[in-house]
Amino acid sequence: MSEELHVPEGASREEIYAAILPQIEAVMSGVDDLIANLANIAAILKQAFDFHWVGFYRTTSPKLLMLGPFQGPLACVTIPFDKGVCGAAATTGKIVIVEDVDQFPGHIACSSLSKSEIVVPLVAGGETKLVLDIDSDKAGDFSAVDQRWLEEIVELIQRQHFT
Ligand code: SME
Repeated sequence: MSEELHVPEGASREEIYAAILPQIEAVMSGVDDLIANLANIAAILKQAFDFHWVGFYRTTSPKLLMLGPFQGPLACVTIPFDKGVCGAAATTGKIVIVEDVDQFPGHIACSSLSKSEIVVPLVAGGETKLVLDIDSDKAGDFSAVDQRWLEEIVELIQRQHFT
């Protein structure tokens, strides 16, 4: 795998996901370090879509998420499972899409520029091991398209690191 990401120009979000998925698989291939893989995935998603913030929080102690590899502005370090969008996804084990973060009770505003958010949990053995969190500076920026492709990306992580 070359170190350069190829992102089709002028393509739809769906086409971009389709183009980057095999590249994510390629960079993860043979890499058994979780942090290294999360770091590259955050970089790829940031470069492909220029989202405001892309990163991971890992469950490093019971009911507590700890900041992991990310791209974007400074972020809060710990998030209890009962706080924020990340905590909601971690607690339920279900994807959360927030069209307007100001309307989400308990949303943790790491950056005032964040307008919408999607959080995809990775559940293994009945426990949330980590979440992929993406913030956009545009309201209502995430749809079922993001949900489907981001789920696939999280599944890749699950297959490689949590089975
Ligand atoms: N907004 C998140 C906190 C993490 S930052 O967006 C990076 C939340 O409410 O859980």
